[in-house]
Amino acid sequence: MAYGLLKGKRGIISGALDENSIAWKVALKAKEEGASLVLTNAPVAMRMGAIRELADTTQAEIIPADATVVADIENLFSRSTEVLGGKIDFVLHSIGMSPNIRKGKEYGDLNYEWFQKSLDISALSLHKFLQVAEKQDAIAEWGSVVALSYIAAQRTYPFYTDMADAKATLESIARSYGYRYGKLKNVRVNTVSQSPTKTTAGSGIGGFNSFYDFADKLSPLGNASADDCANYVITLFSDLTRLVTMQNLFHDGGYSSTGISEEIIEVLNK
Ligand SMILES: NC(=O)c1ccc[n+]([C@@H]2O[C@H](COP(=O)([O-])OP(=O)(O)OC[C@H]3O[C@@H](n4cnc5c(N)ncnc54)[C@H](O)[C@@H]3O)[C@@H](O)[C@H]2O)c1
Repeated sequence: MAYGLLKGKRGIISGALDENSIAWKVALKAKEEGASLVLTNAPVAMRMGAIRELADTTQAEIIPADATVVADIENLFSRSTEVLGGKIDFVLHSIGMSPNIRKGKEYGDLNYEWFQKSLDISALSLHKFLQVAEKQDAIAEWGSVVALSYIAAQRTYPFYTDMADAKATLESIARSYGYRYGKLKNVRVNTVSQSPTKTTAGSGIGGFNSFYDFADKLSPLGNASADDCANYVITLFSDLTRLVTMQNLFHDGGYSSTGISEEIIEVLNK
């Protein structure tokens, strides 16, 4: 059911790779709620083609941008304001990648060039989005920026290696820029810390199925799906959350506040 929560709003959605992507679900819901959209992803992801289908469904323009390249992001924001006919009301940062995870490097054997790549793609890119937007004055007053994070920013998950450090940086950037952009333009910046979710980025992490099941058994409400995540993100883009900023918001079925559950005890007792 749609509520018209984003009626008349203009948004940029990054990171929709395929129909499992969290960003894909956010784009569909944002459209349903009345927004007009621009979709963006790295040029290399474009070549895989699925985003075209989403663009057709959501009547969105696609503007390719490598999230590590400032010139691409400048083009993304300036073209988006042109195409959408005004300043941007919301931005989804749904971008993450670690070459070290992809290549199975453990935390004591990281390749530092790849580590910098992980940080650049998964964290600094949020700063780049915000700095470009500020310089172009591209985000409307009371606009909303949401980036996706994971609880490994606060607690150790050995298999998450350098992405844990990237997520900690991402959340810090959201706080620091949230202060600045709040003072400047009443723009809010938050991170949503999502349950493990079966997507390309998620499933690429070593032991994913085990920690997916563990999280599901620990959380009183079970793991939050990508669809549920999209619903939550839509509320953060809407005018109903105008005073929420600089927060890391857990969207995890209660996982982050649970010590142990009966289901986990049962498994251990077996
Ligand atoms: N899946 C999970 O378990 C989970 C849990 C918590 C948070 N997250 C976060 O959610 C976000 C979205 O991931 P997802 O799970 O939907 O997976 P996904 O693989 O569908 O999305 C990741 C996206 O990042 C894009 N990307 C990678 N490098 C890029 C670059 N240089 N420039 C622009 N885009 C680039 C990819 O093309 C892809 O679309 C990520 O930040 C991820 O860390 C995922």
